[in-house]
Amino acid sequence: MTALLETVNICRDFKQANLTVHALVDVNISIEPGTLTMLAGRSGSGKTTLMNIAGALDRPSSGTIFFHGKEISSLSDNKRDEIRRNNMGFVFQSVALISVLTAYENVEFGLRMAGIEPARWDNLVRESLKFVGLEKRLKHKPHQLSGGEQQRVAIARAIASRPKLVFADEPTAELDTKTGLKIVNLFRHLVDEEKMTIVMTTHDPSMIELADNVIRLEDGRVV
Ligand SMILES: Nc1ncnc2c1ncn2[C@@H]1O[C@H](COP(=O)(O)OP(=O)(O)O)[C@@H](O)[C@H]1O
Ligand SMILES: [Mg+2]
Repeated sequence: MTALLETVNICRDFKQANLTVHALVDVNISIEPGTLTMLAGRSGSGKTTLMNIAGALDRPSSGTIFFHGKEISSLSDNKRDEIRRNNMGFVFQSVALISVLTAYENVEFGLRMAGIEPARWDNLVRESLKFVGLEKRLKHKPHQLSGGEQQRVAIARAIASRPKLVFADEPTAELDTKTGLKIVNLFRHLVDEEKMTIVMTTHDPSMIELADNVIRLEDGRVV
């Protein structure tokens, strides 16, 4: 079995003046392709730090990361940017849509950032917004959409280029439970029907039962 992503003995220290926070301590995780993995744990347990490192947005203080069996932790920033752009999508808690752009334009902007050729943009934008059930909201700007709809635009943007791996950091934290469950069910669907691999963080027990795998963090350690 080849993991899509594997971390080996990851540590991440944050040093500030004379204080060192051991945000991650010897973390070993393995993400299999075509699975929905949830990173669970209290606030401050290291979920975001681990996700940022796994998504090559941050580097570990020590330890190794393999993507498709290839070591990526020691690559240059440029190489890591390239791997991220070509293979990964991100959904963040604070949605971060561009407020002056429509839903359509926000997703299109994501494709531009991902380096997708312009000829494919229109199809991919329409397809991914349809996928999240927003085909009738193409011309809406973020303030004209509900919180759940905005989050779905952010998901459409993250999946539009069909990345192998999608990271979502507490995508449901600012939504009510019902809307949050809709988002997680959408992830479930993306994994089951579109063969994506999704890693999300949450501390909501009602979401966790929809996961294939749960990784629990406590004080920077997997428990
Ligand atoms: N940039 C940083 N500088 C210093 N400490 C940090 C930084 N980022 C995170 N931490 C610390 O690392 C620990 C884990 O944080 P984080 O990964 O954000 O937890 P979670 O996402 O589970 O709430 C926390 O104690 C936090 O204060
Ligand atoms: Mg966090």
